[in-house]
Amino acid sequence: MIRLSLIIPAAGSGVRLGMKTPKPFIELGGRTIIQHTIDKFIDIPELGQLLIVASAQNIDRVRGLLSNFDRSDVDISVVEGGDERQDSISNALKFVDTGCDLVAIHDAVRPFIEKNVVEECIRKAMKYGAAIPGIPVKDTVKVLNDEQFVESTPDRSFLWQIQTPQVFKRQILFDAYDKANNEGFTGTDDSSLVENLGVKVHVVKSSYDNFKITYPIDLKLAELKVEGHL
Ligand code: C5P
Repeated sequence: MIRLSLIIPAAGSGVRLGMKTPKPFIELGGRTIIQHTIDKFIDIPELGQLLIVASAQNIDRVRGLLSNFDRSDVDISVVEGGDERQDSISNALKFVDTGCDLVAIHDAVRPFIEKNVVEECIRKAMKYGAAIPGIPVKDTVKVLNDEQFVESTPDRSFLWQIQTPQVFKRQILFDAYDKANNEGFTGTDDSSLVENLGVKVHVVKSSYDNFKITYPIDLKLAELKVEGHL
């Protein structure tokens, strides 16, 4: 049986949402966003370890929320995050159980991930070493210069918006983070670090439902989904 370690980063400040409460701790239908997210993974048979990354002041709050999850065969812990998302993951990697074949990283603020996408990412990561979910972009994307003028228009048919969970063979992810930390390389997702290692990353088609709660409009959409209106 494949063993999966899941890292859920939840140590962001949530400034873009403009609320005092960090995003993972906002309630939707009586449960926090992070609890909705954990709900989507807790029954996965491959799950062997769950690492939640929280900022120092929220560690106890996360421990409290975790007491509701009943999976005695899963090693569940809370670890401290860092200034940037990449620092948060770097710290969590120190606690990954080396008996796990795969490591998945999923944003705390994507509570609508579908089980079939998770399963497909796990399957493809076992096969290729690295698998991430994504969707084709809807809008035309332009590259701008510093003066706010268009530099170029890449062919849209090749452009995909990438989400999480991003799933990797454990050693590939460890090597990618080691290399990035040694080179001072930073990326906006974990896959960029794996790409920087020279590993080919497979993309699994996901859906628009797996959006990241970032702006107030996303929170409104999330409320409608939890209430069953969408
Ligand atoms: O900031 P962004 O929307 O990319 O954050 C994605 C996820 O990473 C969120 O769940 C957030 O809580 C987490 N994060 C973190 N540590 C940081 C910044 C973000 O765990 N320093």
